[in-house]
Amino acid sequence: MGQVERIGVSLEKELLAKFDKLIAKQGYQSRSEAIRDLVRQQISDKQVEDPKAEAVAAVILVYDHHATKLMEKLTSLQHSHLLQTISAMHIHLNEHDCLEVVVLRGRVGEIKKTAENIISIKGVKLGRINFVAAGKTSD
Ligand code: NI
Repeated sequence: MGQVERIGVSLEKELLAKFDKLIAKQGYQSRSEAIRDLVRQQISDKQVEDPKAEAVAAVILVYDHHATKLMEKLTSLQHSHLLQTISAMHIHLNEHDCLEVVVLRGRVGEIKKTAENIISIKGVKLGRINFVAAGKTSD
């Protein structure tokens, strides 16, 4: 952690009570740690609104591996985006469905395009993209 500055925050009693209840449930040891995480989250979320920002994204897919040519298309898409694809994890959910997490790195706009190409493959039942800013947000 860099140099720390102490700040005072004014909150309505009711709001603070709700906040304390929430962070206790989440397991935070202190308000400061919870507030730091919230601030980092906000900064990261704001950064990834810019299509040119550097980011890493976890693309989560659920698909039926019996779907025609799906596996082939999925692999081919990852091979043609080598610079963006960092890693992939595959889990067999049941007899039909697989869960795959593909981690992409690059500019937000390019990642989004690749992720949408992956999610729109016929046979993909569920697709989500979770972005995290790759730049330094804070310590
Ligand atoms: Ni599988």
